[in-house]
Amino acid sequence: MRIAFIGYGNVGAPLADHLQRAGHEVTLAARDAGSESVRELLARNGALQVQSPADAVKSADVVFLATPFQANEAALKAVAAELGGKVLVDCTNPVGPGLTHGLNNTRSGTEMIQSMLPDTRVVKAFSIYGFENFEDSAYPAYNVKPVMMFCGADAAAKAIVGGLIDALGWEPLDVGGIEQALHLEHMTLMWVRYIRAGRRSPNLVWAALRR
Ligand SMILES: NC(=O)c1ccc[n+]([C@@H]2O[C@H](COP(=O)([O-])OP(=O)(O)OC[C@H]3O[C@@H](n4cnc5c(N)ncnc54)[C@H](OP(=O)(O)O)[C@@H]3O)[C@@H](O)[C@H]2O)c1
Repeated sequence: MRIAFIGYGNVGAPLADHLQRAGHEVTLAARDAGSESVRELLARNGALQVQSPADAVKSADVVFLATPFQANEAALKAVAAELGGKVLVDCTNPVGPGLTHGLNNTRSGTEMIQSMLPDTRVVKAFSIYGFENFEDSAYPAYNVKPVMMFCGADAAAKAIVGGLIDALGWEPLDVGGIEQALHLEHMTLMWVRYIRAGRRSPNLVWAALRR
């Protein structure tokens, strides 16, 4: 699968690296091909490709958005013409002052993106844990895999993203439609408040137990 990354910092870099190593063709949608973050990531994985944002998105099947929430609009506007019909994986979280919901708890960032880009198939995923867990998803002491919850309106898009989640070592847990994104964003805030604000180890994720 051809995958483009808009944003390849703490979150995007390990996901881009691991997806390339899992056999995908991964391209950094680079505003500046000579930037420090591009150079660092190419030193980590020389098989990653680098193109302009428009070219990278144009040739991709799946596009990851891993930018600071405040940068989403500008980053997406720059490639909006190329995003029609594409699967867009929204890894971003609107975090407001004092670790509150950045859109006042009324609407998710993912729904905001979906309404900006009505022809794009937006799936929220890779958002609910700290990036340390994207660097390493393994919890080998347990006989269940950690879950990666995801949601979105388009079932076919979610099937594709579920496959990528599985390839990266998680149990894909489709929690429903795009209206669930607000609740995933609150789960993230709970994790961030508990772990980051509470100065706890980031090596903590959720698992699904069924009976
Ligand atoms: N950090 C976490 O543990 C974590 C976990 C889950 C989800 N998230 C969410 O994931 C998102 C990214 O977080 P992060 O920690 O990876 O941030 P980060 O390390 O600061 O990386 C942000 C990336 O976005 C790029 N960027 C910034 N403004 C841009 C713009 N206008 N157009 C295109 N690209 C732009 C940066 O480009 P340069 O490389 O050129 O600077 C960088 O590659 C955030 O929304 C965050 O809430 C974070």
